[in-house]
Amino acid sequence: MKILILNGSPRTDGNTAAMAEAFKKGAESAGSEVTVINVAKKKIAGCLACEYCHTKGDGACVQNDDMQEVYPLLAEADAVVIASPIYYFNITGQMQCAISRFYAPMKPAKATKAALLLSSGSPGVYKGAMAQFEDMTAFMGIENAGIITACGDENKSEDKLAECEELGKSFA
Ligand SMILES: Cc1cc2nc3c(=O)[nH]c(=O)nc-3n(C[C@H](O)[C@H](O)[C@H](O)COP(=O)(O)O)c2cc1C
Repeated sequence: MKILILNGSPRTDGNTAAMAEAFKKGAESAGSEVTVINVAKKKIAGCLACEYCHTKGDGACVQNDDMQEVYPLLAEADAVVIASPIYYFNITGQMQCAISRFYAPMKPAKATKAALLLSSGSPGVYKGAMAQFEDMTAFMGIENAGIITACGDENKSEDKLAECEELGKSFA
């Protein structure tokens, strides 16, 4: 299957990137085609609520920024993975901006599965991010196929990366 991983960390070699790469490795070993986009390194603004997409735009967003590279990948994806560090008890602002732009197509056209990978400094800080993901996947009619969290010393640990790899494999 085609899997799109969106990484919301500005740290290219950070903990979230390690989780995303481990997931990718597992998914590719099971035959999936995986694209990782680092949304925090892109210029992606939040939704303007101009409603161009739902009026004149026929589902296309009027904002001409890097989200235009993501839209075709989102449309083709059989599965979408949201990977983000926790910033103040939720996903990063950069990831939140990208997700708000899902408003144009309303949902990934083909995706049937989704996963959430979260990294943080402390334990017990995931309630907000998990609630958003669970509500969002239910709204979009996409299976929540797994959530993995890594805090403190769990980050980049062998066990945690193996867990991410296994989840990736299970997406075949
Ligand atoms: C702006 C900012 C806010 C953060 N807020 C939290 C937080 O609320 N709870 C927490 O446990 N860690 C918090 N952290 C720590 C990161 O979640 C943690 O270092 C994570 O592993 C970073 O992932 P990365 O290496 O992929 O960027 C914060 C870090 C930054 C820079």
